[in-house]
Parts: sequence; structure tokens; C-alpha cells
Amino acid sequence: MNVFEAIKNRRSVRSFSDRAIPAEVLEKMKLAIRYAPSACNFQPWHFIIVTDAKLRGSLAQAANDQLWMAQAPVTMVACGFADQAYKKMGGYDNSIDIDLAIALDHLSLAAVEEGLGTCWIGAFKEEEVKTILNIPNNVKVVGMMPVGYPATANLIRPIDESRRKADSEIFSTNSFGQ
Ligand SMILES: Cc1cc2nc3c(=O)[nH]c(=O)nc-3n(C[C@H](O)[C@H](O)[C@H](O)COP(=O)(O)O)c2cc1C
Repeated sequence: MNVFEAIKNRRSVRSFSDRAIPAEVLEKMKLAIRYAPSACNFQPWHFIIVTDAKLRGSLAQAANDQLWMAQAPVTMVACGFADQAYKKMGGYDNSIDIDLAIALDHLSLAAVEEGLGTCWIGAFKEEEVKTILNIPNNVKVVGMMPVGYPATANLIRPIDESRRKADSEIFSTNSFGQ
């Protein structure tokens, strides 16, 4: 599968089978994360691979009761260290959210090639997630991502063009809005 096919076929999957992820496939997902770029290559991150069913259930509750998340055999929890990130994005901003988002995006695209489904989880109560996984106070939970085989094959399918804004709305050439 080439990169563009993976981009085109990635969909948010919210229903998973209980099929285990083979160890070598999980290793490939870890590699996709590790190879992600980060500002100054600081790699201000740590990823918790949550496989324990009880913990996955608790994380789903902490994610505003998105209980379907717990069906997936792995929940990847992306943690960032603000003090290790680049702090001058645009002259003033911390790169932590961007760095971690790129790494999770690598995971979501590499997953497509393996027939795995993923879904970004941004709706969660950070303090609860920290308590569940013993994450220190100074660490930011940037996002979570269940990873697993979709419950049905048709959950990974090409993008529906009508659900994306038109080129004319989101691109301009040489000057903003032109
Ligand atoms: C930062 C971010 C946070 C998201 N949080 C959630 C979430 O908490 N729950 C959920 O079901 N989907 C979540 N999504 C998935 C979006 O709803 C989804 O990507 C969007 O509707 C486009 O659909 P697609 O991923 O199938 O292309 C999130 C996506 C992003 C990028």
C-alpha cells in the first residue's frame, strides 16, 4: 500500500473485534511512532500501550464514556513533556501538541496498511486518565487512540469526498484568501 492509499482509506473506526494484534504488527506501529518528526528532533513524548482490559475500560469511561474504545485490544495514550519540547513555534509557542499529533497520525496511517482501525480520542478528562495510568502531574496527555481490527471489513473504506471542505474554501495562492 502506498502512502496516498493509506491516507485515502484511513477512517475513524469506532467498532472493533477482539482479535489480538500480533506482536510484530504492534512493533511496526511503534516504529511508525518513533520515526515521526518533532521540532528540533526533541521527541518530547512517551506512549503508554494499554493492553489491560480493565484499564482500557477505565480509560473509555474517562473519555466521556466512549465505551466502544475498550473493544480495541490496545489503547495508545500519547503523553508529552512540555519542558522537553521546542518552545518558540512562530516565535512564542510550545510544539508539544503538534509533535504528539504527528506521531499519532503516523500510527493511524501505518495502521491502515495492516488492516487495523484507529480513532483519535480528544474528548477525555485528563486528570482521570493520569490517575488511571499513574502519569505524573507535569506530563500532558495529548490524546488517546484505540488500535484494533475493525468489527466489520467495511469500516475501512475510501474517504467520502462530500464530508470534506472544498479546495476553494481551504486553499489560497500567494495571499490569504486569494
Ligand atoms: C484532535 C481530534 C480529536 C478527536 N476526538 C474524538 C473523540 O473523542 N471521539 C471520537 O469518536 N472521534 C474523535 N475524533 C475523530 C473525528 O471525529 C474524525 O476524525 C472526523 O469526524 C473525520 O472523520 P474520519 O476520521 O473518519 O475521516 C477526533 C479527531 C481529532 C483529529
